[in-house]
Amino acid sequence: MPAAYLVTGGAGFIGSHIVDALLARGDRVRVLDDLSSGSLENLPSGADFEQGCVTDYGLVARLTEGCRGVFHLAAIASVPRSVEDPLSVDRVNTQGTLCVLEAARRSGARVVFSSSAAVYGDSPELPKTEAMPAEPISPYGVQKLAGERYLYAFHRLHGLEGVALRYFNVFGPRQNPRSMYSGVITILCRRALRGEPLTVFGDGTQTRDFVYVRDVVAANLAAMEVPEAQAVIANVGTGQATTVLELAVAILKESGSRSEIQFGPPRAGDILHSRSDPSFAERAIGFRARVPLKQGLAETLEWFRQLGPEA
Ligand code: NAD
Ligand code: UD1
Repeated sequence: MPAAYLVTGGAGFIGSHIVDALLARGDRVRVLDDLSSGSLENLPSGADFEQGCVTDYGLVARLTEGCRGVFHLAAIASVPRSVEDPLSVDRVNTQGTLCVLEAARRSGARVVFSSSAAVYGDSPELPKTEAMPAEPISPYGVQKLAGERYLYAFHRLHGLEGVALRYFNVFGPRQNPRSMYSGVITILCRRALRGEPLTVFGDGTQTRDFVYVRDVVAANLAAMEVPEAQAVIANVGTGQATTVLELAVAILKESGSRSEIQFGPPRAGDILHSRSDPSFAERAIGFRARVPLKQGLAETLEWFRQLGPEA
């Protein structure tokens, strides 16, 4: 009999790719999403979709019943929104995670929680290792850290098995191209294909560890299989740093665009450098990123081309 999984936030960018992978291997999939930033267009047929809020405990408990595991992605996934509106974002990001953990421990499901490299804050030490102190500097980072700590407490209190994955900068098809909160790769690919200037904030020497969404799916599937997972925390990144300027040049090259690069003022609150140490994730969950940036960019640009001019 195929296993059943709940994917919260499964109509979103990363969650919908996890749904695809689970369905492709024959699992049964339930999706809980309020469609606030996700879309039904992302969802393949074959998943049982329920529109609702992850803070609705009764609903989460009902959907978790009978599932082997929960991939918990539902969140307001934006650092600036958490700064503008910390109260309502906290309700979704902290209470929502708590609802999922409580439902999972009651039904005996395992949990893979989408955390973030935002928990590291802006300390200059690189690369980021899981052993470093977490010192988030945004409400979003605090909320993700709270989720990790709740996961640990629920493991200690109730024996809940789970893994928290600290994603670095995830990119790929289905990140909402029209949202002002989208990632730099989505924004620059769209601009390149429209012939608009590529906006680089600051001098472009800031670095990020860009990880392709297919690798993030692989990390989630591997994390779900960790035996007796004792609230493990693992980075999901490539270990490679790319400057934003190198990225802009690579996007121009890969897309054949003649757009120019325009420099603007640095973005307030930006972390200067971010790069993962991927070695613990390889040991703890058997995950290593495999998709090179160039290939990920090519696939992302291809997705944009298929969306057509309305993207
Ligand atoms: P996304 O916005 O595409 O996905 C989030 C999904 O959650 C959306 O489908 C949205 O509609 C849904 N959602 C939001 N609030 C909800 C609620 N109250 N109830 C039910 N569903 C709700 O973003 P994403 O990039 O796919 O992010 C997925 C997860 O990964 C999030 O937890 C995010 O914090 C985390 N993450 C993402 C990145 C990144 O680079 N994209 C980096 C670190 C962590
Ligand atoms: C990203 C994630 C965040 C996650 C964090 C973890 C997104 C939208 N945000 O934040 O959820 O917690 O990684 O590492 O994916 N930039 C430009 N021009 C643009 C847009 C951005 O130069 O048009 C620059 C920014 O100033 C920044 C860099 O690109 O220096 C990356 O920005 P962004 O993609 O927004 O992601 P992060 O802030 O790193």
